[in-house]
Amino acid sequence: MALRLKERFEKKFDEEIRFFRGMMQGPKQVGAIVPTSSVTARKMASVIDTASGLPVLELGPGTGVITKQILARGIAPEKIVSVEYSRDFYERLVEDYAGVNFIHGDAFDLEKTLGAFADQTFDSVISAVPLLSFPMEARIRLIDDLLSRMPAGRPVVQITYGPVSPVIAKPDRYHIQHFDFIVRNIPPAQLWIYRRA
Ligand SMILES: C[S@@+](CC[C@H](N)C(=O)[O-])C[C@H]1O[C@@H](n2cnc3c(N)ncnc32)[C@H](O)[C@@H]1O
Repeated sequence: MALRLKERFEKKFDEEIRFFRGMMQGPKQVGAIVPTSSVTARKMASVIDTASGLPVLELGPGTGVITKQILARGIAPEKIVSVEYSRDFYERLVEDYAGVNFIHGDAFDLEKTLGAFADQTFDSVISAVPLLSFPMEARIRLIDDLLSRMPAGRPVVQITYGPVSPVIAKPDRYHIQHFDFIVRNIPPAQLWIYRRA
């Protein structure tokens, strides 16, 4: 028992070191100060419809804490497609989460990045990409693009740290729902959902 606790502590510490290194190399790309908490990650993964049989698209997995919670929902590794921009994070993710379809690439250029998965319909999208580091036009284009890859009504869930939705309202294109405010996250996190009618 004490050994398992020690292993868990070491893994958490290792995740935080990795995250910190990523932050030093590209603070704008990482956009947070420590990994997402497991409470937040679990809440984000809760939007998945496990009965749909469709794969889940994850953006910006970083250290993999959200990937872990997607797997915990019972989604098979090969049913997860996960796009990470940082090579460092990507290489560790491939080692840590065998079978998950990690792609080293840019979430803002999905047609190219998704390769063989470009025509895939996804159940839902779980995104930790730091939207606030990108221009509003690019954010809107990303949400539009993501929604076109899912059946109508299915959600894109996005984590952010500002007080308002990181994507402005476009009622003709998507609906915005405030999903949760999670204090048990550093910094406290806001979760937003975007859907097509
Ligand atoms: C706030 S961190 C999320 C980290 C993750 N939830 C965790 O706790 O480890 C943002 C992640 O998005 C990735 N990222 C930034 N820009 C990206 C892009 N254009 N495409 C894909 N991933 C991107 C960063 O490399 C980083 O891993």
